[in-house]
Amino acid sequence: MTLRPTRRTVAFGGIAGVTAAVLGWRSTRAAAPAPLARIGAIPQGREVPLSLVAAERSVTLPAFGGRAMPLMSFFEGDLFPHVVRIRRGDTLVTTLDNQLPAWAEEMSVHWHGLRIPNAEDGVPYLTQAPVPPGGTYGYRFTPPDTGTFWFHTHCNTAETIGRGLLGVLIVEGDETVPYDADVLVCLKDWRISADGAFLPFLTDEGAARAGSFGTVRSANGEAALSLDLPAGGDCRLRLINVDPTRIPEIGVEGAEAAIVAIDGVAVPPFPLKSWRLGPAMRLDLVVRAPADGGEARLVDYHAPQPVTLATLKGTGEVRGTTPFDSAPLLMADLAEPDLANALPLSLTFSATATGSSVAELADDTTAPPLGPLCVTNRSFWAINKAPWPDGGHARLPPPLLTLERGRTYRLTLHNVTPHPHPIHIHGHFFRVLSSSRREIVPHWADTVLLTPKERLEVALVADNPGDWMLHCHIIEHQETGMMGFVRVT
Ligand code: C2O
Ligand code: CU
Repeated sequence: MTLRPTRRTVAFGGIAGVTAAVLGWRSTRAAAPAPLARIGAIPQGREVPLSLVAAERSVTLPAFGGRAMPLMSFFEGDLFPHVVRIRRGDTLVTTLDNQLPAWAEEMSVHWHGLRIPNAEDGVPYLTQAPVPPGGTYGYRFTPPDTGTFWFHTHCNTAETIGRGLLGVLIVEGDETVPYDADVLVCLKDWRISADGAFLPFLTDEGAARAGSFGTVRSANGEAALSLDLPAGGDCRLRLINVDPTRIPEIGVEGAEAAIVAIDGVAVPPFPLKSWRLGPAMRLDLVVRAPADGGEARLVDYHAPQPVTLATLKGTGEVRGTTPFDSAPLLMADLAEPDLANALPLSLTFSATATGSSVAELADDTTAPPLGPLCVTNRSFWAINKAPWPDGGHARLPPPLLTLERGRTYRLTLHNVTPHPHPIHIHGHFFRVLSSSRREIVPHWADTVLLTPKERLEVALVADNPGDWMLHCHIIEHQETGMMGFVRVT
């Protein structure tokens, strides 16, 4: 945890921005929220070298109860997740060394949520040749946006993410007033059997339904994460869900909490009631830490009983008695959608015939378990009726959509299945406008949760040229067909 110079001292110093921040918070309760200040041009930063050595490593995390598990990681050390922190304007100069065992085969690194040039996006066959076992590759880019991002492979993803092959990338520089603490909470389950081996990461029963859930839950690699926060402080909690399957409903009990960013993009702060955080989604909260010795809880309500994800403990002397201040973040430099001239398009997310029959078989508890021979075609899911061709990325389908650079598109994302799907687009953000089933707080996101039978209206400004993946981030859905790409020319 990084403790910053206390905000109280800044607040009492009487900086004008603080007053504006407090007013911004109050106004969300009344009518339209105050507009966010924009972040401005990318400053000149440093060159930050980053060496990624992808390998199988035996790692003992607290959540494993003292047991070592054969994880895959980019870095040495009994730590999960590994976090890279840079400042906006910094250029990452990354070398990837693929030391994965030969069975894991080729790989690439995708930088989730970063609006970087297409050539650096890390999708094998689509944006680069895959990196073979023993091979190396270099990525170089300057992230244009601040926020919490992550990186993972785009090959054999159920297994590699299942074994922990990922990292978190934080790009700093979006705070209007420093918070009293800035802590990460990274959620991931692990599929471990009773005798301590990894369970299969992709199963037909799971892939054709809601996915194969982990058996051991963890936050920052711990089963019972406890975070010490400065008592009475207004603390930033960066939540990231790197699980391939689970969709927790995030809440905070015992403390005031506000949402200040979604997928790294600022929103005018609004009180957190609960928020469903699908795979790959991020949420920045500001939480008023309890008094010294007091406890609050970060919970998942999507369970018969709320599950505690982390205990938030207040420590030290309370530094002031100012009201809770969720100070807004600076707004990213995103092109406003031109809705008046937007072109309407739609994407329908469905099961294939194979997918529906597997789901039905799996629902019938009296039926014998599915053997591998039951399923000759592992395409369970489709976008606009087209499943991604079986067998990985090597056989590219035609693009789902071809978009004209600079134009605004109004996309209807239609889920005709009974399962939720977190839909992710590379290299862009969606402006989430409205839903056929629920009230939407307008926001930007690179991954939107499409709930069962929902139609979601989003706007997309196609301002980054190239071929960009669009897929479900429940990795078993992605790998069994719910994946495609859009072309921006
Ligand atoms: Cu996390 Cu294709 O992305
Ligand atoms: Cu899905």
